[in-house]
Amino acid sequence: MKLMFEVADRVKRLPPYLFAEIEKTMKEKKAQGVDLISLSIGDPDFPPPPVVIEALKEEAANLKNHNYSLSQGESDFREAVADWCKKRFHIDISQGEVIALLGSKEGLANIARAFVNAGDHVLVPDPSYPVYYNGGTILNDGVPVSMPLLQENGFKPDFEEVHPEKVKMIFLNYPNNPTSATVDKKFLKQAVEFARENNIILCYDNAYSEISFDGYKAPSILEIDGAMDVAVEFHSCSKTFNMTGDRIAFAVGNKQLISGLAKVKSQIDSGPPVYIQKVAAKALATYKSDKPPAFLKENNKIYAERRDVLVERLCKLGFMCDKPKATFYVWLNCGSSSIEFAAKLLSAGVVVTPGIGFGEHGENYVRFSLTQPKERIFEASKRIAGLLGCAVAA
Ligand SMILES: Cc1ncc(COP(=O)(O)O)c(C=O)c1O
Repeated sequence: MKLMFEVADRVKRLPPYLFAEIEKTMKEKKAQGVDLISLSIGDPDFPPPPVVIEALKEEAANLKNHNYSLSQGESDFREAVADWCKKRFHIDISQGEVIALLGSKEGLANIARAFVNAGDHVLVPDPSYPVYYNGGTILNDGVPVSMPLLQENGFKPDFEEVHPEKVKMIFLNYPNNPTSATVDKKFLKQAVEFARENNIILCYDNAYSEISFDGYKAPSILEIDGAMDVAVEFHSCSKTFNMTGDRIAFAVGNKQLISGLAKVKSQIDSGPPVYIQKVAAKALATYKSDKPPAFLKENNKIYAERRDVLVERLCKLGFMCDKPKATFYVWLNCGSSSIEFAAKLLSAGVVVTPGIGFGEHGENYVRFSLTQPKERIFEASKRIAGLLGCAVAA
């Protein structure tokens, strides 16, 4: 007898996986021995800084660091987060306003699990990191309401156009994935006012706050007066310290929101490994002021050089593309179906992410990740030029 097990309705409501076709072609190309240049995934190619590796050796070797950790995070880690927030953003945070996360991804999904009831509306930027829509909203029986991020508005939502009825939660993310847009405090003030006036929980994803160039410094929403009443901000060691696989991040903000998240997590997982929290605390302590430590400055310098190579070459090919001030992404208006454009690039061994995978308003765009050496990015641009039949000066 063959039994059938159907997934739950909420799982059926997840959108189809659009990258399946691209992944299939990638596999075929690899099997044919094609030299693929992957500018698709947002995973830094840099190693963690030496301070992390040294701390990892020491803390992992300490036999006391292998027991369960506290759900909300170890006290020294939360203290290190509060110190970092003070140095980096000049904000005062207490330990009760911090929670350790197994990566910010689970935190973004679990915060909705803690506060969104079936049928509640959740405002989701479009395009955006898919977790807000899927893991956060759909898997918690919420109703995602798209907020278009349009190029003419600097990829920021227009709060005047948003209907706040039935809305329980809003997600915002700057520096932004995938558009690489940045914001100033004026915009953050509008966001806080909107959330306060409408009694909406504001989840601010600041995963890329430390990846910035040309003097731009990403603000925290918690720097805005009144933000602590409505907001929780998510940070991650993934991009800042190149620790994507170590799964360590944290959320900071309104105590009620942090407690709700802790309550959910205590029933689902345990805190991140004690030794990883200790390592992350040492990494955060490399900040001596609001300026990034030397290794981060160096990484950002390299990202900026890669960005310059890619953007300058794309402009020579006739595309309109600005140099982003933050994140390691370049968001290109390719002027046609994003799936078709990505498939065309893939035929030359260049892997990019089709914008439609980030939402309806990502159509006609593709995302390049600057997570390959400059020479590979240059080679990718040569292949694109070849595809388009353009000769580009070196
Ligand atoms: C905007 C954004 N937020 C959060 C994350 C999740 O990062 P992590 O779970 O590694 O902390 C990512 C990862 O790509 C991201 O792009």
